[in-house]
Amino acid sequence: MANIFPSSHPLVAHKLTRLRDKNTNPKKFRELVREIAALMAYEATADLQTVPREVETPLTSCTGVELQEKIGLVPILRAGLGMVEGVWELMPSSEVWHIGLYRDERTLKPVEYYNKLPIEPTVSVCLILDPMLATGGSAVATADVLKRWGVKKIKFVGLIGAPEGIAAMQKAHPDIPIHLAAIDDHLNEHGYIVPGLGDAGDRQFGTG
Ligand code: PRP
Ligand code: URA
Repeated sequence: MANIFPSSHPLVAHKLTRLRDKNTNPKKFRELVREIAALMAYEATADLQTVPREVETPLTSCTGVELQEKIGLVPILRAGLGMVEGVWELMPSSEVWHIGLYRDERTLKPVEYYNKLPIEPTVSVCLILDPMLATGGSAVATADVLKRWGVKKIKFVGLIGAPEGIAAMQKAHPDIPIHLAAIDDHLNEHGYIVPGLGDAGDRQFGTG
């Protein structure tokens, strides 16, 4: 599949298995979300642009690089929040712009409730952070918002995707690469990913 990047890293697969386990408690669940998010962000940022930078080592001078692009992390509330810290540790000067969306339980359509983006874009690359890509409605709506904001380079970084959500994103935003820890089998009649991990927000925040 074009522009879809499922991780093949054994650390990611190991941690994801613990995350799926229904006996994993919220504290451990949050730790795992943070750790997997960092590993996924490492994979997703392999093509960031750099510019040369001279540096003096204790022995001599040499030419290194520094990141050229201004990065925005865009967690989709609530569940995407748990991914921020892990990614931020790798890219501490990133800006974090929250987008609040929830899925209407009946229609499964996203409902926007929080967006404080300023008028002009302040970043050149956005990483949309959300553990679950189910119907794809939330990811598509967030990408719509970011494109309207004027961001040219957007990536989706998630943990588990369903084929339905991947197809929806590819149809609406074929230019946006999708980085996932795993691609699962299908959605059930309630729009939950199977086998999945249940409700990512409830399991992080202990609200299930
Ligand atoms: C979950 C998840 C995604 C969305 C995915 O959020 O974190 O944002 O569902 O589903 P979709 O691909 O069908 O749109 P939810 O609406 O449960 O809100 P929460 O994070 O506040 O629990
Ligand atoms: N949101 C979740 O948290 N889990 C799913 O399986 C689908 C949507």
